[in-house]
Amino acid sequence: MRIAILGLICLVNFSCTNKYKDVVNTEQDYQIIPKPASLEVANGQFLVDVNTKISADNALQNEANYLAEMLSLASGIDISTGETGTIQLKIDDTIESEEGYSLSVSYNQIIVSGKTAKGVFYGIQTLRQLIPVTTESAKSDELTIPAVIIKDRPRYQYRGMHLDVARHFFPVDFIKKYIDLIALHKMNTFHWHLTEDQGWRIEIKKYPKLTEIGGYRNGTIVGHHPGTENDQKRYGGFYTQEEIKDIVAYAAQRHVTVIPEIELPGHSSAAIAAYPSLSCFPEEPTIVTNNMMSEKGKQIIAEGTPKIVQETWGVFDDVYCAGKDETFAFLQDVLDEVIPLFPSEYIHIGGDECPKANWKRCSNCQKRIKDEGLHDEHELQSYFITRIEKYLNSKGKNIIGWDEILEGGLAPNATVMSWRGTKGGIEAAKQKHDVIMTPGHSCYFDHYQVHDKEEKEKEPLAIGGNTTVADVYAYEPTPEELSEEDSKYILGAQGNVWTEYMETTDYVEYMILPRMTALSEVVWSPQNSRNWEDFESRLQHFSNRYDAMGLNYAKHSIKEK
Ligand code: ACM
Ligand code: ZN
Repeated sequence: MRIAILGLICLVNFSCTNKYKDVVNTEQDYQIIPKPASLEVANGQFLVDVNTKISADNALQNEANYLAEMLSLASGIDISTGETGTIQLKIDDTIESEEGYSLSVSYNQIIVSGKTAKGVFYGIQTLRQLIPVTTESAKSDELTIPAVIIKDRPRYQYRGMHLDVARHFFPVDFIKKYIDLIALHKMNTFHWHLTEDQGWRIEIKKYPKLTEIGGYRNGTIVGHHPGTENDQKRYGGFYTQEEIKDIVAYAAQRHVTVIPEIELPGHSSAAIAAYPSLSCFPEEPTIVTNNMMSEKGKQIIAEGTPKIVQETWGVFDDVYCAGKDETFAFLQDVLDEVIPLFPSEYIHIGGDECPKANWKRCSNCQKRIKDEGLHDEHELQSYFITRIEKYLNSKGKNIIGWDEILEGGLAPNATVMSWRGTKGGIEAAKQKHDVIMTPGHSCYFDHYQVHDKEEKEKEPLAIGGNTTVADVYAYEPTPEELSEEDSKYILGAQGNVWTEYMETTDYVEYMILPRMTALSEVVWSPQNSRNWEDFESRLQHFSNRYDAMGLNYAKHSIKEK
């Protein structure tokens, strides 16, 4: 009877027949980015059919639902989760790495195991790359997965992408798409640059003018800085706290941590436009350099409101006053509303490009220097950052700052983001501080992505520089200068996306793809497995996935596109 039932099941379930069991697979069937740490080719294919069910440990229900949705869309069959399944998701304590996983596919079973749910999620992302790219947008009539044994783990714990939503503002749906891309690449951090000279993008209930006034500018320069004219168009937007909660929850389901950046003490013109007393000189009108101020801006100032949101790009002298206690009370109130929105251990506090000109001539700032026994304005910046760090530490958060926070002395527990090359990162690691590498030459995705001057002219407007996909791929985040001991402070790397010249979501996609794909392998795969020719060929295949996902990307960066 038992044999008869099994036979009946086999009749219904084609996976019992040799047709799938004996299929011979080759390397070509496993074009995975980032390249897994170890992969054993096996024979056979798993067929996703009406009998496919997913069973999962209790801690993995989120991952089971994610996989069920992915396979249902890809196969056109309603794949459900249940007690027993031919696909099993498991927690396995014997896996060493927190984010590691093992994936075993055979003709009649798939097992994805991870030390944590995160690892299992990355195993599912690998499965996603083992099914046809076309299933990103259309179902496959016969969905098969090649048999394989993969054991995989990331090289670095911090694998990030940044996005500046202040120079240009992007809707919630796009932020989710960006988070999806981060997850597809097995990256785990979204650094969300929320405040800038040109716009304040996060609702703060205690200070409504931050978004009412600071969220909008009355014009923007046209063309590359310094620009040819002002477009005279009101521009802006912001995320409500409800939208932010929704985005953070969406990211958490994809094991992406969202780190907000609340920039200080520089790049603060939008906050100062909303609350001028945060400036050293509240009565001094905002300067929009090169005579590029909008007519509306001029009118507002002529009518007696001296501060406006910035309309050109660059670095501006009008920064938070470090002398007034009011500044710190304001920032602490802001952070009090930011903290509960973001479960992240870190809050990025900026710290870059803060000119000291106003502090030098401000009596409040000079008094602070004297009272605190500081030597100069660099030490005043260090005082500013350390005071904010202390506050955030008292709330259970740690700070990340751009490498300028080294100047005048590092705040005791700060993590440094090295952007002006690698020098700051090396220095911080030697001082036993954690470091995230984002050096311009390799990690700035606002650069042109060609070297050739003529080719560059065919590219859409970018800030400058040239960082090709090959340059990104060649990047080694752990500097040779560091001892093995100090190398441990290099947590990972991140791609930065400053959006002065990226007016649309399409353009952001173009600038990150395929460079982000290259970076994902830099931060995930074992150093000794990196090989440009091999990557280039897998990238060609991966770009078919971009096509199926309807993504815009730099086709000239892909061989034979
Ligand atoms: C930066 O690019 N100003 C951190
Ligand atoms: Zn001041």
